[in-house]
Amino acid sequence: MRSLAILSTLGFCLHAQAQNPSDLISSLQGAGLTSLASALERANGTQEGQSLISQLLNGNHTLFAPDNQAFDDPRVQSLADDPAGLANVLAYHVLPGIFVNSSMNSSALNSGVLPNATLGYTLLSNSTLVQLEGNKTQVLAWSRNDSDGQIYFLNQDPQINVLNTSLVGNNLLVASIDGVLQPPGNISTVLDQNNLTSVLGFLNMVNVPGFYANGSNATVDGVLDANTTRGYTFFAPTNQALRNANSSLAGLADNQTSLAILLQNHYINATSYYSPQLYSVAANGSNPDLNSSNIISAAGQPFNFNTNSSGTFVTSGNGASARIVKSDVLTENGVIHVIDNVLVNTDSDAARASSAYASATSVAAQSSTQAGPIGGLPTSSATSTSGTNNHTNDATSIRVASTWTLILAGACGWAMAMFVCA
Ligand SMILES: *[C@@H]1O[C@H](CO)[C@@H](O)[C@H](O)[C@H]1NC(C)=O
Ligand SMILES: *[C@@H]1O[C@H](CO)[C@@H](O)[C@H](O)[C@H]1NC(C)=O
Ligand SMILES: *[C@@H]1O[C@H](CO)[C@@H](O)[C@H](O)[C@H]1NC(C)=O
Ligand SMILES: *[C@@H]1O[C@H](CO)[C@@H](O)[C@H](O)[C@H]1NC(C)=O
Ligand SMILES: *[C@@H]1O[C@H](CO)[C@@H](O)[C@H](O)[C@H]1NC(C)=O
Ligand SMILES: *[C@@H]1O[C@H](CO)[C@@H](O)[C@H](O)[C@H]1NC(C)=O
Ligand SMILES: *[C@@H]1O[C@H](CO)[C@@H](O)[C@H](O)[C@H]1NC(C)=O
Ligand SMILES: *[C@@H]1O[C@H](CO)[C@@H](O)[C@H](O)[C@H]1NC(C)=O
Ligand SMILES: *[C@@H]1O[C@H](CO)[C@@H](O)[C@H](O)[C@H]1NC(C)=O
Ligand SMILES: *[C@@H]1O[C@H](CO)[C@@H](O)[C@H](O)[C@H]1NC(C)=O
Repeated sequence: MRSLAILSTLGFCLHAQAQNPSDLISSLQGAGLTSLASALERANGTQEGQSLISQLLNGNHTLFAPDNQAFDDPRVQSLADDPAGLANVLAYHVLPGIFVNSSMNSSALNSGVLPNATLGYTLLSNSTLVQLEGNKTQVLAWSRNDSDGQIYFLNQDPQINVLNTSLVGNNLLVASIDGVLQPPGNISTVLDQNNLTSVLGFLNMVNVPGFYANGSNATVDGVLDANTTRGYTFFAPTNQALRNANSSLAGLADNQTSLAILLQNHYINATSYYSPQLYSVAANGSNPDLNSSNIISAAGQPFNFNTNSSGTFVTSGNGASARIVKSDVLTENGVIHVIDNVLVNTDSDAARASSAYASATSVAAQSSTQAGPIGGLPTSSATSTSGTNNHTNDATSIRVASTWTLILAGACGWAMAMFVCA
């Protein structure tokens, strides 16, 4: 009965109990997701792909399923002869846990409303592409735009939207999307993509002497990008913020030590804190995911967070403060939040920095992969998932579903004959 309801409301017809790989593939084909099905089949030729499929069929998962047109993306076409690379990309579409919004209809995707986001760990773990703390897998971030009800992914260019969602059996939420998600790149690439060119230049201008094992100096960019750096939360000033701070920075221009400290006071070493965690610390002073609200910079200075009518702010130990203007800009080994001011603080406490690092790495080593939203559900100030906003998402589902129903109607008829859909 449930599957029939899904079929009629959302236009999906996936096999209710996809418990083996060929069922899963056939079900996706039946729902018209034929390119995804053949991508999974190709990926299945590799160990990565086989592991992905077996994980997907075990326990609760959310699958973001690119539609056929999405596979025309040249970045995906270029993986034609690289099934392992394809398997990595597909792994970035699967999340342990069912991200449903229980306060809405049973298959509505759980999503924060702008400026809040929902984030979850995916199955992408390849160590060439992901180097987060505690060998965590890469995360995916999305948000709902309350003006038009659209749920879309952060950090994807061009924008990728959620088309509609459907619960398959009781262990798989399938959300069709109109693009193939790309895993994040390294810090230089990501800063560049986000037009944060001034801070990128700054990171490349400042030396950390003798950082590399061979005794060579690294730039701060090199330190953040090093394969030994696992997890960071970097507060990146906008280009305008750096222009505004020009005179304060000019006074330090000759002193590489001070400049390095100033930059270290812009990041947390060895922990990636995503916006739901930081916003909840800002609003409530704590978050269940954090072992302590004592957040220390890489130079050993405390960070404080607060939220008021102007937004969410980060404040350094000496009182220098900035507003977070964009959050959850992901990189392969950490996360960036964009701020509107330079935190001009050249104080440091090396002992405190190294003990914060030791504690962060030990916490990360003990934690296991988390299913469901990182940092819990979006904080109350911005959830807006109850009351008048509920219908926004439903309306979108229905609007999009009508297109999908047309597209999938033929395929579903075929699938109905193949599987017991009701
Ligand atoms: C995946 O590969 C395995 C091993 O080669 C094979 O047994 C299985 O049938 C394949 N599954 C699919 C869905 O192609
Ligand atoms: C899967 O989700 C259902 C609710 O949809 C829950 O009852 C069940 O415990 C979950 N199973 C696992 C293995 O987490
Ligand atoms: C990561 O994926 C690439 C293919 O994209 C593969 O060559 C490499 O061996 C993988 N690394 C690990 C550690 O699995
Ligand atoms: C949200 O939707 C409105 C209306 O479609 C649009 O103008 C605005 O640019 C969207 N915001 C984002 C961040 O996409
Ligand atoms: C390494 O950094 C130190 C201190 O900033 C500097 O004196 C030295 O010239 C740098 N070495 C190279 C090769 O750039
Ligand atoms: C030292 O190691 C770094 C990082 O591996 C490398 O980029 C650099 O070229 C090496 N320098 C020398 C002089 O070998
Ligand atoms: C990091 O890179 C260096 C130099 O490129 C290499 O020798 C080392 O094995 C790498 N370490 C890890 C943990 O990948
Ligand atoms: C550079 O800054 C460091 C740390 O702020 C300070 O200890 C040092 O004396 C400064 N060096 C010069 C040459 O001013
Ligand atoms: C909000 O907090 C920031 C940082 O503490 C502060 O600078 C700003 O004045 C506050 N704004 C309001 C409206 O309270
Ligand atoms: C993190 O802290 C450790 C220990 O103090 C240090 O070796 C490492 O360079 C730091 N990493 C970054 C990215 O600052």
